[in-house]
Amino acid sequence: MRLLVVGAAGQVGDSLVRQALGQGHEVTGTYRMRRSAVPGLDAIALDKTDGAAVARLVEMVRPNVIIDTSAMHNVDYCESHSEEAFRVNRDGTAHLAKAAHALGAQFTFISTDFVFDGSGRPPYTELDPVHPQSEYARSKVEGEAAALAPAPDRNLVVRPSVIYSWWGPRRQSASSSGKGVNFGTWLAEEVRQGREVRIIDDLITSPTHAGDLAGAILALLGRSAHGVYHTAGATPIDRYRFSVALVKRVGLDPALVHAVHAAEFAQKAPRPTNSSLDSSRLTATTGYRMLELPAALDRFARERSDDLAS
Ligand SMILES: NC(=O)c1ccc[n+]([C@@H]2O[C@H](COP(=O)([O-])OP(=O)(O)OC[C@H]3O[C@@H](n4cnc5c(N)ncnc54)[C@H](OP(=O)(O)O)[C@@H]3O)[C@@H](O)[C@H]2O)c1
Repeated sequence: MRLLVVGAAGQVGDSLVRQALGQGHEVTGTYRMRRSAVPGLDAIALDKTDGAAVARLVEMVRPNVIIDTSAMHNVDYCESHSEEAFRVNRDGTAHLAKAAHALGAQFTFISTDFVFDGSGRPPYTELDPVHPQSEYARSKVEGEAAALAPAPDRNLVVRPSVIYSWWGPRRQSASSSGKGVNFGTWLAEEVRQGREVRIIDDLITSPTHAGDLAGAILALLGRSAHGVYHTAGATPIDRYRFSVALVKRVGLDPALVHAVHAAEFAQKAPRPTNSSLDSSRLTATTGYRMLELPAALDRFARERSDDLAS
């Protein structure tokens, strides 16, 4: 495949680029504020909200597949900057999907578990109706529609949950996504530096390792899958218990991690109480199984120790 990865220096973009190159695909990446750390990657600057620039770049690269990992996904920032959230997550996505369609290329979009509201009987399947609670989630629901509209029988939407991977301090810098560091890395660094952290214990998600998500996307593309697929970690868990497990797995002190209820934690945007996802459709289509938490944490710990040793 000739792949164009939008947001190549983000945590999912970085994993996708490395795995796709490892599988022998030809890859071009885009960036806004951060350059990719992958040696030899052909990387081009792109703001996906600029429709003319998107059309020019896609025409120049002529990919068979465009994977859009880019987003404005600081959920609380989006709540008070909804115009910006929609401009990036809906309109920028639409520019890319249209440019892909004009070329006959496949388009893949990364959405979120926050499209659900926590009611009903999670873990949610792809058949469950969406009911977004925040401006971020609404912009992603509209992004999903924009992604699928030009070619519903070819384009793909994947929904992960909280994404983490080791992203050491040497790689951290500001990003136009509104997030320079992911939750898992932030947590491990806070605890390593001896700082106490307060983590919500009554919101359940399906924490998703970035490399595992990249593997799932490439497996779906390998089967020409289209439509919506859930691609989230296989273990539904609340954020506090996830944090304790992660901290223990990297050999740090879980006594520094304290549980708080969501109601005590002043967050601007509402979050679903349980947005865990069932990814069995992915397995039925491709044979790919998302990792259970212990195996995903092993991967995180390995990435961290390799990085700290280098
Ligand atoms: N992280 C999570 O917990 C989580 C959970 C569920 C779903 N998701 C979704 O998963 C996807 C990947 O997340 P991630 O954790 O890999 O994010 P990330 O590490 O923050 O990377 C996001 C990328 O988006 C790029 N970007 C932002 N605005 C852009 C624009 N206007 N034009 C072009 N590129 C732009 C950034 O580029 P620069 O860095 O170069 O500025 C960055 O490379 C996103 O769609 C997000 O909504 C994330």
